[in-house]
Amino acid sequence: MSEVGCQRPEVFDEPKVELHVHLDGAVRAQTIIDVARRRGIRPPADTPEELRRLLVLREPASLTGFLAKFAIYMHIIAGDRDAIRRIAYEFVEDKARQGVIYAEVRYSPHLLANADVDPLPWDQAEGDLSPDEVVRLVSRGLSDGERAFRVKVRSILCCMRHMPSWSASVVELCKKYRHEGVVAIDLAGDESLDCQAYPGHARAYQEAARCGIRRTVHAGEVGPPSVVKEAVEVLKAERVGHGYRALEDPELYARLLAANMHFEVCPISSRLTGACAGDFSEHPAVTLRKDKANYSLNTDDPLIFDSTLQLDYGVACRHMGFTRQEFRRLNICSAASSFLPEPEKRELLLRLYRAYGMTRSTPF
Ligand code: NI
Repeated sequence: MSEVGCQRPEVFDEPKVELHVHLDGAVRAQTIIDVARRRGIRPPADTPEELRRLLVLREPASLTGFLAKFAIYMHIIAGDRDAIRRIAYEFVEDKARQGVIYAEVRYSPHLLANADVDPLPWDQAEGDLSPDEVVRLVSRGLSDGERAFRVKVRSILCCMRHMPSWSASVVELCKKYRHEGVVAIDLAGDESLDCQAYPGHARAYQEAARCGIRRTVHAGEVGPPSVVKEAVEVLKAERVGHGYRALEDPELYARLLAANMHFEVCPISSRLTGACAGDFSEHPAVTLRKDKANYSLNTDDPLIFDSTLQLDYGVACRHMGFTRQEFRRLNICSAASSFLPEPEKRELLLRLYRAYGMTRSTPF
């Protein structure tokens, strides 16, 4: 196959796989306003445009600045049954529009609940929506969306680094709903809180490994290479969320390459959270591409970054020299590293090969 450069990258119009996107960071601005009005809560803004002006990060910020954005609207969505089902359904519709045929979407069931949860970061009244019911609602919204928009979507449940007391119940929810669309466990949040000091996370991940629950960990986004090492060695991560800073430790990076570790790369996100330098031509994704590493391209939190998957692909093409051929290769890698059961994974790979006019033996 010839090395075809993509002239119009924003329309890499071939099927895509997305593995790293947060449900609560992918909500539509209009939905936040609608839900606020229905619940009798004062919306943070009157129009989607104004709301986006409040929520969107335009310039690189700190992680704290990024997290502060969620506090603007999470109290509106969390604890509301209709809202949770709706955001899951709309998520699938949005992914269908972006040419995604398979997505793994992640969320913290605890952050979307308002009951049975010790200290919630959102300022809200006592409620009756448990993390367990949140998982059921999201799964229902996703499967309604799957049927309506013909996109396959599975979910990943997040532990939060600052709340180790939630992790045991997160892994139990992964086990309980493993046949209803939940495929894996994740650990998100402030990477300066290492797991040695919070054994709740390590115990949950051990239990996940014991039960065959698949595992990814946000690591090396802003935290040092040691956080990635810990994710792989202690938490037995099978994929790394971001992982950029692993490249600073040549020995670790070589080991990850040799193990075919999957990196969930989020280009626009990494610039706006300040995780990577503003100059995309120096982005770790450039090295990953050169080394033919196993990685995906993802949006992370499209509401906060005002992004779509096409925009991330556009950045990779315009500023990092990515070609259509590389986009195909990385999507094959993404499908192969998805947390689908083997037969479904084979089916997904076959769909991609067919759409790309390739066979398994086509060399990249
Ligand atoms: Ni993330």
